[in-house]
Amino acid sequence: MTNKVLYFVCVAVLAVQFASAAFGGVRQDDVEQSVETVLSRLTLEQKIGQTWQCLGREMVEPASGDMSGEKLKESFLAGVRAGRYGSVIGKWGVENYNAIQRAAMEGVGIPLLIGSDMIHSAVTTYPIPLALACSWDESLWERVAEAMAAESLLQGCNWTFTPMLDVALDARWGRIAEGGGCDPLLTGLMGAAMIRGLQGEDMTDGLHIAACAKHYVCYGASLGGRDYNAVELSDDTLRNTYLPPFKMAVDAGVATVMPAFHSYNGVPCSMNAYLLRDILRREMGFGGMTISDWEAVKELVKHGTAADEADAAAQAINAGMDMEMVSSCYAKNLATLVKEGRVSMKTLDDAVRNILRVKFRLGLFDHPEIDKTKVTAAVDPAANRALAREAAQKSIVLLKNEADTLPLTSGAKVALLGDVAASEWQMLGCWSTKDLSKFENATLLDGLKADGVDVVYTEAYTLTGRVDTVAIERAVAEADVVIAAFGDYWEKSGEGASSSKIELPGEQLEAVRTVKACGKPLVAVVFGGRPMAFPVLAELADAVVMAWNPGGCGGWGIADVLIGAAEPWGRLTVDIPRTTGVCPLFYSQTTTGRPVVIDKSNPFGRRFTSCYNDVEPSALYPFGFGLGYTTFAYSGERAEVCGDVVVFSADVTNTGSRKGSELVQVYVRDEVAKIARPRRELKGFKRVELEPGETRQVEIKVPVNSLGYFVQGRYVVEPGRFTAWIASDSDHGRAIRFSIK
Ligand code: GLC
Repeated sequence: MTNKVLYFVCVAVLAVQFASAAFGGVRQDDVEQSVETVLSRLTLEQKIGQTWQCLGREMVEPASGDMSGEKLKESFLAGVRAGRYGSVIGKWGVENYNAIQRAAMEGVGIPLLIGSDMIHSAVTTYPIPLALACSWDESLWERVAEAMAAESLLQGCNWTFTPMLDVALDARWGRIAEGGGCDPLLTGLMGAAMIRGLQGEDMTDGLHIAACAKHYVCYGASLGGRDYNAVELSDDTLRNTYLPPFKMAVDAGVATVMPAFHSYNGVPCSMNAYLLRDILRREMGFGGMTISDWEAVKELVKHGTAADEADAAAQAINAGMDMEMVSSCYAKNLATLVKEGRVSMKTLDDAVRNILRVKFRLGLFDHPEIDKTKVTAAVDPAANRALAREAAQKSIVLLKNEADTLPLTSGAKVALLGDVAASEWQMLGCWSTKDLSKFENATLLDGLKADGVDVVYTEAYTLTGRVDTVAIERAVAEADVVIAAFGDYWEKSGEGASSSKIELPGEQLEAVRTVKACGKPLVAVVFGGRPMAFPVLAELADAVVMAWNPGGCGGWGIADVLIGAAEPWGRLTVDIPRTTGVCPLFYSQTTTGRPVVIDKSNPFGRRFTSCYNDVEPSALYPFGFGLGYTTFAYSGERAEVCGDVVVFSADVTNTGSRKGSELVQVYVRDEVAKIARPRRELKGFKRVELEPGETRQVEIKVPVNSLGYFVQGRYVVEPGRFTAWIASDSDHGRAIRFSIK
């Protein structure tokens, strides 16, 4: 078969493959034809131009972070017309965005992808992803993403670098704040829901934007929980723990994927053909484009795997990196590399095809400019604030509630303490809009007042500073109950914010002890972007709420839960460790040949079993845990294999005095496998709302195929014995047995 025929066979196969994908809006075989038509008329320089996402700041005068109000330089617009850039990064505002696209269409005739990090905030600021994940609510994730998509367009972006799908097992890693937590299934469900919300059914409707699954892959396994650090792990662990969320993202039709900064088994992800071509494209069938992380191509020289920037460019594009973010290794070297034969024209063409495909899927050739009237009409700021409030209500997790301290008794006098309790700024998170003027913001104090609580605020302490015990005693004397803000500032989590200790900073425990000495009930509200180790606080406080970074309407959301206007809905998607020293700590660890044995003689665990001799081996609070304002009992737990599904069922009873919802979770353990398997793995969940005293049979169907695992690159579902738990979290529940034939 001649090359040409083979070539068209490949294109045809590609077209068929994408015709079935859920891209909506445009017929994929039309897209492939359009891509070839555009590609065929591009010069070498114009092809190279498509592979560069340049930094916007140098293109406006004066340079600033937010380019929406700035005047575009003529030299920049001339470069756009010439096709020097396939994309720019940053929030440009609609006017500048449209000016850029007009210049592009007047010149090279190819619109730009314009991307930025609307991770949990485009205008309205929602809770950070780790908080949002704790809602376990696919509808909420999708609604938040869809609202962010329209607001991103008003920011002058048609692409956002989210969802972050890094399974994070180590609380020391600051970026644990940006993802779904420690479980592959939950992280993947959240990512797929956000992709559906961002990209919509029809990505060409001018109200949706391109999503980006990042950071591909296993970034959360970096050595020591340190950002950007090396990752060494087996191919089986890669496939069983870290790849599943990306497979779910590709199946959801994600437009772009961002490889991670780090090296995987010695080869940086940015130049790792095994990851980018063998797995992402051939195994997973990804048909979109890859975008490097910030200057990650240039960083290959620092990794010591590229001799210089030209070598970095060659290795990255040959491995499957389509577009380079910010650094200009491609722009400066690809022409020479192609002429020297170190990069084939087909490799460059394929990268450009992937880029053009996304632009066609977004409908940019048909409507390069943002229709501000249409988008403005679609954005309802009040509805978005209500959504942000709902998201905050559903993201916070009630961890302790002794003697029904919560919900607050109507009319109770509340003393509110701590700097964060009255800080708008600290309701934000690691990827928030930093311009507070852009939206209304609600502190916890605002929320309590808005909910009619008789509250008196006294700062008394900051999270990292001195404690004014006299001020605390004076404030508490006048109150029936104390609410105090603890944790850490949002700046201490997120990118480049790994911590060597995750205990509460400063003198916070002195504030806790002072309140306790006054003999009044203490409600501790813990803020922060990571699980922190706070065993003493948990022991002394009467109630503990994990509020994370709850977003611009977070104060209202927390107050709604504290007064009982909203029930505590959230369930943890990470384990809360007792100390830094036990990190990484995650519920789904494999067992060992000497599982921990706890006995009366040693609550830390019997010697010569896999424990520490100075701390309990269990999580302070486990994955899946969260309290409500009522209680539930489980009975009649069963697992029944029916063809290609296992039907798990249990009778769940509301044993309390208030209506409430229970998140019923299914965990499974494969008792005998070719490799050691997790002690428990989440396989399904369902929320059920019950009136006091009501019992309902809850049924959760799990595909038999999902009980398999990868071993030496092959996915196997083996007959054998399994144990399951139908429970309220990953540490509880009665074990039931079933077998697969
Ligand atoms: C950052 C982050 C990535 C982000 C990108 C663009 O370094 O690693 O998550 O999307 O650069 O800001």
